Amino acid sequence: MAEPTSNDPRKKTAWALLHDHALQNQNLTLRSLHAEDPQRFAHFSLQLNELLFDYSRSLVTSDTLGLLLELAAQCGLQSAIADMFSGAVVNPTEGRAALHTALRNPGQVVDAASGKVVEPQVNHELEQFLGFADAVRSGERKGSTGKPFTRVVNIGIGGSDLGPRLVADALGDRGGLPDVRFVAGVDGMELQSALQGADAENTLFVVCSKTFTTLETRSNADAARSWLTAQVPVEAAAAHFAAISVNDPAMDEFGVATDARFRIWDWVGGRFSLWSAIGLCAAIAIGSDAFRKMLAGAAELDAHFQSAPLAENIPVQAALISIWQQNFLGIGSHVVLPYDQRLKLLPDYLQQLFMESLGKSVRADGESVPYQTGVPVWGAAGSHSQHSFAQLLHQGRSSVQVDYIGTVNGASPEASAGHRAGVANMIAQAEALAFGQDADEVRQTMADSGATASDIARLLPHKVHPGNRPSVIYLLRHLSPHSLGMLLACYEHQVFVQSRILGVNPFDQWGVELGKVRAKAFSDYLQAGATNELPGVGGVILDWLKGPA
Ligand code: F6P
Repeated sequence: MAEPTSNDPRKKTAWALLHDHALQNQNLTLRSLHAEDPQRFAHFSLQLNELLFDYSRSLVTSDTLGLLLELAAQCGLQSAIADMFSGAVVNPTEGRAALHTALRNPGQVVDAASGKVVEPQVNHELEQFLGFADAVRSGERKGSTGKPFTRVVNIGIGGSDLGPRLVADALGDRGGLPDVRFVAGVDGMELQSALQGADAENTLFVVCSKTFTTLETRSNADAARSWLTAQVPVEAAAAHFAAISVNDPAMDEFGVATDARFRIWDWVGGRFSLWSAIGLCAAIAIGSDAFRKMLAGAAELDAHFQSAPLAENIPVQAALISIWQQNFLGIGSHVVLPYDQRLKLLPDYLQQLFMESLGKSVRADGESVPYQTGVPVWGAAGSHSQHSFAQLLHQGRSSVQVDYIGTVNGASPEASAGHRAGVANMIAQAEALAFGQDADEVRQTMADSGATASDIARLLPHKVHPGNRPSVIYLLRHLSPHSLGMLLACYEHQVFVQSRILGVNPFDQWGVELGKVRAKAFSDYLQAGATNELPGVGGVILDWLKGPA
């Protein structure tokens, strides 16, 4: 039975019990856990359709998970989940619901802030933007001179870039038309390369910005319009723009045609907005059918999250393990390693999802937090990581938890052979991290391969792998729109569970505001050459702005 909720997880009895449990189990090793329970994989894995979650290499026992489940109950997790899906205001600092789940399965959800049933608007907008995407793909939607769009450029940043960019890269046709590009950075370099070889008459810009005030996006959109109007008459420019925003006046002012603008709502957070019209460029890259399949995959995971018992609930278990490892075992970072090159942008996407949501040191109740809420998330494509930073994972002194993501089958027999090599490497990495190689094993291996006694003595300490480094595996049968939808929704819900237990609001991001304000001021000072207003380095910048020496 859940206790009445206080926002401080340390006040729950389960927190203190977990603390004691951590002290009592300091010497627990993955070797001993696996030796004691040869069926550990069966006991510590969950499968939902084409997604398998293997957490047998996490530093947990069934007692640990039992206590974590008690903590979840004492923090009112089950009702928090119901609240989010029902449209309650779960983002208190902004007074908003968080109804991204309604975008993939609208039902009759009511937005508590406005009191409106969301289904009709969600369905209407979905049909509109997917229809537009297909019309661009088929060439039915044309530019000002009647030519189809062969180049589509998404202009957005953060949640208005990372999700659509990931999906287009993971599932889009390689070399297909239209060629969909993404521009986010403020320095103009990405725009320049996105427009390389482009012809204005065949180019469509999609300005993606929930607020339509984001500096980087506005400046890239202005630059895109200048590039366009240098080649087509000003009055023709509108035929080359589409936009997604809650800000109609700003779209009016920018000159976006009414049939090329799509709505989102306050209750869709930027980093949760891929499923909305913000995903337009993803839909242009993969087509409306695939986009709908991705929504269906996410909806399947949503249903699992809502209805599976917490002990058999994939995102819940993933979150509980992270809380345990980060708060009670002191693990300081979280690495994401997809063993499928098509998912190479997943770490970037997850960085925003986790770090913008959990990177907080004040709880939702306004109290400061003396415990861990969110650790740095980083990563790269798994194969690449083995030849760059995996050394640190295996033998470095930083404590890291790893998420491996592997795809078993490719689209063709040849591609499947590649995936087989990928998953073999992934398993090898996970096993090496978990079980390492101790001095006796190194000595034996070296002796077996004919090494001299002096070489063994000299190299042995360097070859020991301490092991006992935790990881989980997400295994996909195929990388498909459906399985990708499941995986991304799973991570969203993991973040939600961590936030609810740790007491922070995962749906605001006040920490990005100060930098934005300061950037505006410094930009003005640089423009005005106001040396006295700038910090020390400002003098050098102003000097170097005069041009190359
Ligand atoms: O600066 C952070 C942020 O607000 C993100 O949360 C958001 O995804 C991104 O900026 C882009 O915002 P917008 O879609 O309003 O341009």
